[in-house]
Amino acid sequence: MSLKLNIATLPILFLLASVANAKPAVFNIVKKYGGKVNEDITLPLSNAWKDACAMPGQSKVVVPAGTYRLGPVQLNGPCKGPIELKVRGTLEAPGDLSFFKWGSWVSFERVDQLTLSGNGTFDGQGKSVWGKYNGALPINIRFDFITNSMIRGITSLDSKQFHLHVFACKNVTLFHLNIRAPGDSPNTDGIHMGRSTGINIIDSKIGTGDDCISLGDGNRDILIQKVACGPGHGISIGSLGKYENEEPIVGVKVLDCNLRNTMNGVRIKTWPASFPGIASDMHFENIYMRNVSNPVIIDQVYCPWNQCKAQIPSKIKISEVSFKNIRGTSQTKEAVKLLCSNEVPCENVEISDIDLAYQGSDGPATSQCTNANPTISGKQNPPACSLK
Ligand SMILES: *[C@@H]1O[C@H](CO)[C@@H](O)[C@H](O)[C@H]1NC(C)=O
Ligand SMILES: *[C@@H]1O[C@H](CO)[C@@H](O)[C@H](O)[C@H]1NC(C)=O
Ligand SMILES: *[C@@H]1O[C@H](CO)[C@@H](O)[C@H](O)[C@H]1NC(C)=O
Repeated sequence: MSLKLNIATLPILFLLASVANAKPAVFNIVKKYGGKVNEDITLPLSNAWKDACAMPGQSKVVVPAGTYRLGPVQLNGPCKGPIELKVRGTLEAPGDLSFFKWGSWVSFERVDQLTLSGNGTFDGQGKSVWGKYNGALPINIRFDFITNSMIRGITSLDSKQFHLHVFACKNVTLFHLNIRAPGDSPNTDGIHMGRSTGINIIDSKIGTGDDCISLGDGNRDILIQKVACGPGHGISIGSLGKYENEEPIVGVKVLDCNLRNTMNGVRIKTWPASFPGIASDMHFENIYMRNVSNPVIIDQVYCPWNQCKAQIPSKIKISEVSFKNIRGTSQTKEAVKLLCSNEVPCENVEISDIDLAYQGSDGPATSQCTNANPTISGKQNPPACSLK
């Protein structure tokens, strides 16, 4: 290369470098806001968030490595620019419920272009309350009306109730999350979602005491991919139909997931004697199950503790559903159950390439279909609809 060319190229290189280096303004809760390891950082974090949020341009709040105590906080927008909260440390929630004035521990509301990142842990200290109280316990991390955002890398540990609750959000990706609580911890759903659009949950591990992921009404365009689930109750759409004016749930893809020792695999559940509703365009593909009870289940007579009129059919219309390439082992004999409503039968259900082995002495595995009439192709173990 000639010297001439190099000199001519330099200004362009500098320009590119300065664009790439447009660094966010950093608000370090230890360096600038008086936060200290092993102390309570509720105020330092809230103050750092307020300043960062009020700052035009990109801003970044940093919680450095170390263990901190944190009371309930509301980290709200709208903010003046894109904002990141990077947590490298471990945050511990109060064990005592009297600290909680509202239903969550860490809550984000009305933020556009939020990034929640870092290798940090949100430790909900659920052990101190599990099984001791009736009524709703605090949710570990809540996202309400969050748009165009990314949640990545963080760990949610031992939440008192749900780990993550996503409500009325749009275009949010949850990536590389680690969600953990014991298999017998009550009501600790990994990620519960409601009325949200364009949510992706990718490449994450969830082991908990209730549903790994549960989708309520009004969700659209949801992608769940490469999620490892177990222990827990599996990946669940519903329960639907309990309340009036539920919104349709349309467009759910569950791909390349791995479930192990869970109480259900992939499930759609609706209450009998329900209000009308719609659940449509839901696809489950490339799912590996190991020792899963009820690996594939549509349950329109979902009626736990007999708290409903099971004889009156569900009015939730389920359509355009596929289960493809689902393999592994079932912990129960009835490996595939498609129990649809006799008032509004399921429409356009497809099952293709199912290979679920059952080892019990009362084997082999069976498959039950009521009001489903699925299209069948590829391998079928158990034989499709062997019980009608
Ligand atoms: C996150 O990584 C940093 C090193 O990059 C480490 O010092 C810190 O302890 C880690 N945090 C957690 C909660 O593991
Ligand atoms: C979705 O959010 C991401 C940020 O995570 C952003 O880069 C992208 O442009 C958004 N997509 C749309 C369609 O707004
Ligand atoms: C199978 O799963 C059940 C929970 O559904 C669990 O109790 C049992 O230990 C598991 N078996 C194996 C061999 O992992």
